[in-house]
Amino acid sequence: MQFFASLAALAATAATLVSANSVTFVNQDETVRRIIFTPNDGFASMDTIEVEASGTSKVEFSQGWIGNWYAVSEGYEDVPGMLGEVAFNGWNDLTYYDVSAIVNATDTNGVKEMFPLSQMNLTTKTSFSGCKTFPCNTVYIQWDDVQTVTTSETDLVCTLGTSPETVEKRAEHNLVARHYVLGKLS
Ligand SMILES: *[C@@H]1O[C@H](CO)[C@@H](O)[C@H](O)[C@H]1NC(C)=O
Ligand SMILES: *[C@@H]1O[C@H](CO)[C@@H](O)[C@H](O)[C@H]1NC(C)=O
Repeated sequence: MQFFASLAALAATAATLVSANSVTFVNQDETVRRIIFTPNDGFASMDTIEVEASGTSKVEFSQGWIGNWYAVSEGYEDVPGMLGEVAFNGWNDLTYYDVSAIVNATDTNGVKEMFPLSQMNLTTKTSFSGCKTFPCNTVYIQWDDVQTVTTSETDLVCTLGTSPETVEKRAEHNLVARHYVLGKLS
């Protein structure tokens, strides 16, 4: 019994070491924004952070953290807006993420896009959720929508505010359906 308990503790430690989950928040304009995090039940609460005008802030998350966040521009009321959602170290050891308009689709000035950190400097991102300007069809709008994206990376970027770029470029998209559809049997 003790042996298994020790093994489990060791595995937990190893997992924590190999997987430093993070989201780098990138403020694309001159507005200071706060990020308010909402963990799913049972996951660690996260302190609200402030992202400077045109600044970036990197936030680290515990192993397996699941939850979401929204951005509030300086001088505005704290009301939930466009959500960034993430499940780190999920099924198949993938990170699941999406930008969701379900709670408040009228927030067009907060959370914009999410993608793996390695794609930060690519003009054509192969794996992202969200939009540079809303509305668009790369955001999660309905409950059974399939805009949840996966990556084997544990470091993500979440852009905020207005991007200087206006042209949306989108190559292919790694989609994972919320429910599996087993092809047409016609
Ligand atoms: C949605 O977000 C916008 C922008 O932050 C805000 O003005 C509005 O009050 C929010 N709506 C609701 C229902 O919270
Ligand atoms: C993106 O480019 C900037 C500026 O050259 C560099 O500092 C940064 O490390 C790059 N980020 C990634 C993830 O490659």
